[in-house]
Amino acid sequence: MPDVAILKAGFMPLARFPAKWVPVRVKKTRKTTILSPVPIQSERKRLGQKQRRNSMTRITLMTTLSNTMGFLEDHLKRTVPGAVVTTWPEQGALNGEVVVCWKPPAGVMATMPNLRLIHSIAAGVDNVLSDTALPDLPLCRIVDPLLGKAMAEYVLWGTLYFHREFDRVSTNARNGHWHRYDQVAAADKRVGILGLGTLGIQAATLLKSVGYKVSGWSRSAKQVEGVDVFAGDAALDDFLVQTDILVCLLPLTQSTVGILNADRFARLPKGAALILCSRGEHLNVPDLVAALRSGHLRGAILDVFDKEPLQPDNPLWTEPGILVTPHMAGLAKPRVIADQIAENIRRLKAGEILLNRVDPALGY
Ligand code: NDP
Ligand code: OXD
Repeated sequence: MPDVAILKAGFMPLARFPAKWVPVRVKKTRKTTILSPVPIQSERKRLGQKQRRNSMTRITLMTTLSNTMGFLEDHLKRTVPGAVVTTWPEQGALNGEVVVCWKPPAGVMATMPNLRLIHSIAAGVDNVLSDTALPDLPLCRIVDPLLGKAMAEYVLWGTLYFHREFDRVSTNARNGHWHRYDQVAAADKRVGILGLGTLGIQAATLLKSVGYKVSGWSRSAKQVEGVDVFAGDAALDDFLVQTDILVCLLPLTQSTVGILNADRFARLPKGAALILCSRGEHLNVPDLVAALRSGHLRGAILDVFDKEPLQPDNPLWTEPGILVTPHMAGLAKPRVIADQIAENIRRLKAGEILLNRVDPALGY
């Protein structure tokens, strides 16, 4: 029996090959069909490997957040059919079709030939888009309603902290100083939220339900019940002049980096306060310290910093008027993160629309 049979198309019954050989690898020329018989066992193996490859999903984890990643690895292995999970820079990590990341190393994703989806484990994707060699592929983020609720609670607490004078009372208490401040109604406190997205709207709604006068600033015009909305760069000054407590919930992009600076603080009424829950890079720290020391601003709660964790010797810890919290305003549950990533992988494989896609041109 020759290894290669050249047959006129359709004439030769397959039975001419011994049972342990099958005629596969069909190559058609104009007149003939060339069937190369191969042993049945090796053909089965080849098909099996191909099927396994097709049903496999290679996921690459890229981050330093070891706790979350340990959970994600286990969960994705259990919930994504055929998941093969590797952590960069382990061997095989560059074969990933899906990258799951927080602060991924720049340039690495550009070297991944099979990559089809980049998934952040966070709400903000600035730390992913900062990679100038990032491949032009779908990028998704996490949107967790419970994180939004937690963020709204944090913003409400920060608002009460200034509105009900807890900032001053706690300082007085440390000095054994008894002083009762005049009580101001919530309706007489104006809270302004920079960014009316998923988180900004939830925070605005909660503040409104407590009775505050709430306004918000976003790129595009929108309607949020009971909230005065200011849209676009031209409206920013008008928004700031009527804000007693300024909350920042903007994404970090080229248009918003450094937005909290001396010029913007000067627009705020004297005695205004700041609650920063977005990204450290939104804030010009020396400008804030100057505005506090001059007495123009009353205080600031800072939850985010350009370098985290904030080092123990950082002067912000002890600067009068500043309260530091450890990037805790709103945390997504690892289970929610894992489920959203698994669902997007399912959608990717099924060719369906992905959830929570980021527009790289806008940066959020
Ligand atoms: P979204 O993308 O849902 O919303 C962003 C909002 O900002 C939108 O209203 C958008 O306007 C507005 N915006 C963006 N660019 C501009 C601009 N140039 N001028 C005016 N408005 C602008 O984000 P989220 O609400 O989900 O999250 C916001 C940020 O919060 C995240 O990017 C992250 O940095 C931070 N965060 C912090 C956490 C913490 O624990 N401290 C936890 C989670 C997130 P428009 O509606 O017109 O598009
Ligand atoms: C963030 C997050 O973006 O914690 O900060 O999700």
